[in-house]
Amino acid sequence: YRDLRVALLGCGSVGAQVARLLLEQREELAARTGAGLQLVGIAVRNIDAPRDVELPRELFTTDAEQLVLGADIVVELMGGIEPARGLILRALEGGADVVTANKALIAAHGPELADAAEQVGAQLSYEAAVAGAIPIIRPLRESLAGDHITRVLGIVNGSTNYILDRMDRFGDSAEDAMRVASELGYLEADPTLDVEGYDAAQKATILASIAFHTEVPVEAVYREGITGITSAQIEAARHAGSVIKLLAIAERLTAADGTEGVSARVYPALIDRDHPLAAVHGGKNAVFVESEAAGELMFYGAGAGGIETASAVLGDLVSAARRHVAGGPGIPGSAHAELTVLPIGEVSTAY
Ligand code: NDP
Ligand code: HSE
Repeated sequence: YRDLRVALLGCGSVGAQVARLLLEQREELAARTGAGLQLVGIAVRNIDAPRDVELPRELFTTDAEQLVLGADIVVELMGGIEPARGLILRALEGGADVVTANKALIAAHGPELADAAEQVGAQLSYEAAVAGAIPIIRPLRESLAGDHITRVLGIVNGSTNYILDRMDRFGDSAEDAMRVASELGYLEADPTLDVEGYDAAQKATILASIAFHTEVPVEAVYREGITGITSAQIEAARHAGSVIKLLAIAERLTAADGTEGVSARVYPALIDRDHPLAAVHGGKNAVFVESEAAGELMFYGAGAGGIETASAVLGDLVSAARRHVAGGPGIPGSAHAELTVLPIGEVSTAY
């Protein structure tokens, strides 16, 4: 086998599981890719911090900049904008393929990073950035590339789905449901990102950009969180045969002036109880895709969790390794502005 140098940036909930799987499944991964995936180092802030997984101490470093030099594949699982963005650009400039789960970074700087990858023929992949373990980026980008997607409806934030579901099914107050969600580790360090819809808006940006082959900036996503939702509203929805879910919606629309464009929005929407999305309970995620030829498709599963998210990261890693072995440019990641992004306008809570 040809050896490929894999540099891991971050060893938290997701990174530790990726490192474990890389080491434990070395033989299998080699057989599947035709390459020996050599984990050459793991960059962290604090080498002595406790880890979820026992890993060889000599792999750890605090010098992320040095680690990315000479790597064939860089896996970024640190989170945040900087230094992640700078390190990814440096890796791409050096010709490395990059795998990341960093939704905040891709939502804010996806086009810049995709252009950097395209310039050197490298591959930037981020399957885990939206809906954790659920394969959705690759299906939208590749499997449905010959179809016309008309609408994407996603429950892409597990913690808010958990809170709304507890309120609906168990009659919890919003405060109690939020406390349990926090105990289960579903919430971001700053829970405002979840309950005010920022996390879902980042994911909506990514889904909209890929589904509609354009660049939808996160500022163009209408955003409304769940903090205004009361038990009485949930009760009223139930009586009307509906359920309230925080939806990320990306849709092809024709504006009043005839412009065909894409609109993206996040808000607590009323869903008919017969719709498959109404059956997405607890902290689970799902993405419902409507397209001209394929019709309706639904992708369902775990939207978070260290090991679950590591599955999607490993999938991207295998794809990058196969590309290295086979040669050839990466999958084009940059958008080609097929559609105009429609301004945030009046939206209704129906969908
Ligand atoms: P954690 O906070 O658990 O881990 C972050 C890791 O990155 C830590 O090991 C930390 O080091 C390291 N790190 C952070 N900043 C730096 C820095 N400046 N230099 C070096 N190392 C640094 O994050 P998660 O594993 O939960 O998330 C990783 C990424 O995956 C994020 O982008 C997140 O949004 C995304 N994601 C996470 C999901 C989840 O369920 N957790 C689901 C889907 C996506 P140290 O350990 O020393 O502090
Ligand atoms: N806080 C996020 C959620 C984690 O609740 O879905 C996964 O992105």
